[in-house]
Amino acid sequence: MYEQVSHSLLNHILDELKTEIRKRDLRHFYTRLGANFYGIHLLFHHLYGKRDDFKEQMIHLVEVMAIRYVQRHVTLKQLDSEREKHHNWFLSQEWVGMALYADGFADNLEGVEERLPYLQELGVNMLHVMPVMVCPDGASDGGYAVSDFRNVDERFGSLEDINRLATSTRKRGMLLVMDMVLNHTSDEHEWAQRARAGEQKYQDYYYTFNNRDIPDMFEETMPEIFPETSPGNFTWDEPMNKWVMTVFNHYQWDLNYNNPAVFIEMLDNTLFWANQGADILRLDAVAFLWKKIGTTSQNEREAHLLLQLMKDCCQVTAPGVLFIAEAIVAPVEITKYFGEDAVIAKECEIAYNATFMALIWDAVATKNTKLLRQGIQSLPTKLDRATWLNYLRCHDDIGLGFDDADIQRAGYQPLAHRKFLVEFFTGQYDDSPARGAPFGVNLKTGDARISGSLASLVGLEAAIEQGDAEAIEQSVKVILLLHSLICSFGGMPLLYYGDEIGTLNDREFLNDKNKAGDNRWMQRPKIDWQRAERRHQHGTPEQQIFDGLKKMIAARKGIPAFADFNNRELIEVDNPHLFVFWRSDPFMPLGSVLVVCNFDSSPQFMELSALGNRGMFEYGNLKDLYSGESPRLFKQQLVVPPYQFYWLTDQRPETGLTL
Ligand code: GLC
Repeated sequence: MYEQVSHSLLNHILDELKTEIRKRDLRHFYTRLGANFYGIHLLFHHLYGKRDDFKEQMIHLVEVMAIRYVQRHVTLKQLDSEREKHHNWFLSQEWVGMALYADGFADNLEGVEERLPYLQELGVNMLHVMPVMVCPDGASDGGYAVSDFRNVDERFGSLEDINRLATSTRKRGMLLVMDMVLNHTSDEHEWAQRARAGEQKYQDYYYTFNNRDIPDMFEETMPEIFPETSPGNFTWDEPMNKWVMTVFNHYQWDLNYNNPAVFIEMLDNTLFWANQGADILRLDAVAFLWKKIGTTSQNEREAHLLLQLMKDCCQVTAPGVLFIAEAIVAPVEITKYFGEDAVIAKECEIAYNATFMALIWDAVATKNTKLLRQGIQSLPTKLDRATWLNYLRCHDDIGLGFDDADIQRAGYQPLAHRKFLVEFFTGQYDDSPARGAPFGVNLKTGDARISGSLASLVGLEAAIEQGDAEAIEQSVKVILLLHSLICSFGGMPLLYYGDEIGTLNDREFLNDKNKAGDNRWMQRPKIDWQRAERRHQHGTPEQQIFDGLKKMIAARKGIPAFADFNNRELIEVDNPHLFVFWRSDPFMPLGSVLVVCNFDSSPQFMELSALGNRGMFEYGNLKDLYSGESPRLFKQQLVVPPYQFYWLTDQRPETGLTL
């Protein structure tokens, strides 16, 4: 958009750019800056326009974008252009991700690179390497307490290792996802150290206070994130003689985005990692970026404006790089991180589907899909050029973040139902095979979340311990059933390392004093590669899970109806144990797929009439695209065995062809 004020400022800024920058080939940079500048100026002005140094800051912002553009490698610039041409590339069903800790999966980044063939064997082509930036030995929050944004921690390797890994993934047609921890730094970061030493400039990078007056006001409405280990949202820092805001752990200082210098530094860091070859950046804890007295200081409008600004700027320098929003918040809030009022994503192109994840776990515990269906129905439609990251487990706890109103509509009482779920997954009922642990228990509010590995939560650990072959088989089925959902729902499935071989809870963390207080380490395992070898041994759980997933991933990649074009429709069926949806192929009307999942331990039936006039299924000649087999039909009913899923398509009798 052309607007005089911003345009004349742009002219001024371009005149001010250092000559060594202006001498470079900035053609694409100028075009994109011209296209985005109106938005950038508007947002920056909205956030920082009242400051005397506004213009200076604005010049600095453009300078940072230009310098990073000049430094961007030509290969990455080519990728940028290709992705601009095929801008829907990430909506394809061909992407399947896995998140892993470099030192848990292999010993370090070099080891990860060596193990890329293992991921390719499975069919994974998007690799999320959990944070590898420098962080303190002890107080690291699993890498989310960064003390140097420009370097790789020596535990994992070096910047060269990252560059090599990025080159290697690119050659193999894989995507590399890396973390950007935008909300806070470690208290050992240079900025925090200098703030401690009394430098006002750096004290202004954080929320620092001489007394409790303002912290107390904030505390009236701010919830606690880690109530057991880091209660409250502020920490007294003795050397600085001030209170500092620490929403997460007491050693993670919240950055103050009221200060434009903080935004520019963090943009610079973000572009730095884009230039290291990351295809996608996972923006950590984005809901927390803006703090306001009298609110929960989550999901504030300004947090969205900051993300829009970040996106607009990143599009100028590195338009091929996508953002993932890690916003584990209420269902209605999550979709806002795609960007509101926009047709295409204006904040993050991808967001964790925390709602779907929590709803799936509800169906596991209750063996019915009442809340799952309700919750999915209430999920706002997302933008066209935006997609979900669908996952079952990750390095964090499972928060029961569904909506109270949905719980009620499903026929439960919210508090009692949440309590039931925590008790179920922590194995407090006789008929629960789960081996999770409560996390983040808040005695004041009664809230709790759940830790534990996927396999242990669905009963594999208990089954193996009891030597119960039937229960082992059942757990394997559940593991595959759950993955079938994230592979077919629409969006990118994100597997979690170790789950592909049924890795159980890891209790090693209890022997490490820096980890013992945080049971999320139960689900951050060190992979036992000898155990992984059992994937070649017929009949072992490792083999069944690994091969099942491999087959599932291969099948997904060949089903265009699983690409994410908002082409999913829930099907209402009478049977409460079934979750059924329809995926249509926007480009080929006959390519639709019916997904049917049975969450119960006994066989269930589905009336085919529930499909209404949805196409080809009238022939009753169905084929499961996963197993290649035809499911059993009884009269006009589809028979779904215990914990079974189907990806059904029609095989027309007259041609015998699968459409
Ligand atoms: C994110 C991370 C989590 C971390 C928190 C604070 O939620 O996933 O592991 O503790 O941010 O950085």
